[in-house]
Amino acid sequence: MERLDKIIANRGIASRREVKELVRQGRVLVDGVPAAAPDMKISPETAAITVDGVPVCGERYLYLLLHKPAGVLTATEDKRQPTVLDLVPEPWRRRGLAPVGRLDKDTEGLLLLTDDGELTHRLLSPKYHVDKVYYARVEGTPDAGDAAAFAAGLQLDDGLQCLPARLEPLGPGECLVTLREGKFHQVKRMLAARGKPVLYLKRLAMGPLQLEAELMPGQCRLLTDQELMALRSTCGL
Ligand code: URA
Repeated sequence: MERLDKIIANRGIASRREVKELVRQGRVLVDGVPAAAPDMKISPETAAITVDGVPVCGERYLYLLLHKPAGVLTATEDKRQPTVLDLVPEPWRRRGLAPVGRLDKDTEGLLLLTDDGELTHRLLSPKYHVDKVYYARVEGTPDAGDAAAFAAGLQLDDGLQCLPARLEPLGPGECLVTLREGKFHQVKRMLAARGKPVLYLKRLAMGPLQLEAELMPGQCRLLTDQELMALRSTCGL
């Protein structure tokens, strides 16, 4: 975290004294909101800072972790149904954000939104194998046989050969599933292939990102610097 006036002064846009005046006049925005004070501490990696509407930090990307609720489409616009972008606060909505991967309409949980195309591409590429962890409620009781079948790499009815995956039984009607790929309805199809149709699905983690209990369905927050660094390093950046 760095002081706002230092970030702006270091880029040669104004002296620290001038920044103080610009902030007082409401001409400095941080993530679309007038800066509260010249000495406020912010992250130059993730904050969008503008002076008179001009970006200070050059091409900075935005990384939002959303707790997607059920009933919302993983899309940026739809004529009839609410999308995940509708849940993003106004100043961030016009940044060209896109979801990294897709959760079904009835699936809840962790969804990353960003305007960083390179990171998105890598996170979705099979080359980097980013683990996604899901909690599933199912019909029946997942068991060691299901875990072994997942570990061996399931073949689905339509011939799709899945990569080896992890299934941890949690008791009657519950399990955790960890996948390194993200084919259409993959968790549901894999569990259905084992005779355990999914009743409820929630993504808990993606690589180093975890969905914390405090982030309520429908809420989003910025990634921390540590999360961003960890995420970038999982895909070779
Ligand atoms: N697998 C599914 O079946 N659905 C999702 O939303 C995510 C993974």
